[in-house]
Amino acid sequence: MDVQSNGLFISFEGPDAAGKSTQIRLLANYFNKLNYQNIVTRDPGGTAFGQKIRKILLAKETNVAPITELLLYAADRSQHVYELIKPSLDKGIIVICDRYIDSSVAYQGYGRQIPVSLINHLNNIATNKLIPDITFLLDIDTDISLRRRDSSNLDRLESESSEFHKRVRQGYLKTARLYPQRIHIINARKPISVMHHDIKHILREKFKTLFSKNEIIAHEEN
Ligand SMILES: Nc1ncnc2c1ncn2[C@@H]1O[C@H](COP(=O)(O)OP(=O)(O)O)[C@@H](O)[C@H]1O
Ligand SMILES: [Mg+2]
Repeated sequence: MDVQSNGLFISFEGPDAAGKSTQIRLLANYFNKLNYQNIVTRDPGGTAFGQKIRKILLAKETNVAPITELLLYAADRSQHVYELIKPSLDKGIIVICDRYIDSSVAYQGYGRQIPVSLINHLNNIATNKLIPDITFLLDIDTDISLRRRDSSNLDRLESESSEFHKRVRQGYLKTARLYPQRIHIINARKPISVMHHDIKHILREKFKTLFSKNEIIAHEEN
């Protein structure tokens, strides 16, 4: 398989404390070692404008209508694609994004129970149908991820009930079954280094042209 644009668009999904930030940091370091130009960004809040939206979204407001929340995520995502993700891919840069379209399907769709067809439609509008080349879903039992989190400082979505988080997990897994070519499930109970190894292995298998240079193998063995 080859990539859809010059760059490579990688998204990471999964609940809070699944290990997304940890794996993203390791992957970016790996690309840096290979001298592959890359950026790490996040959804929501990948642009200056989006930072403002992120603050509104995660603040402990009460009585936020589910559709208000959905539209704010879509607004953030639209700006993110327009200002940062698409221009970076067009320059041949690897974009690693912490959450993207599948988060809205899982949280606003399955979590808040807004029809998934509506979420998909909005995602298409917001992103101009820019879909990641590959997505890693860091999957973990809800009880474990809830325990791993720092419970003293939860944002508005993190504070939702455990039933909400269970629906989110099932929503993610259903989405992964729908798009098996794109979404790879990573067992987030494994040690950090094993997860990193699995992620690199999948990337190398899937994007052979990008990872065909011999020096990568050499790097791996060091
Ligand atoms: N594979 C793992 N096993 C055990 N603990 C982990 C693992 N990956 C991350 N952690 C720890 O769990 C917490 C959340 O990790 P983080 O990468 O911030 O998750 P996320 O970005 O998905 O919220 C951190 O304390 C991190 O050190
Ligand atoms: Mg994180």
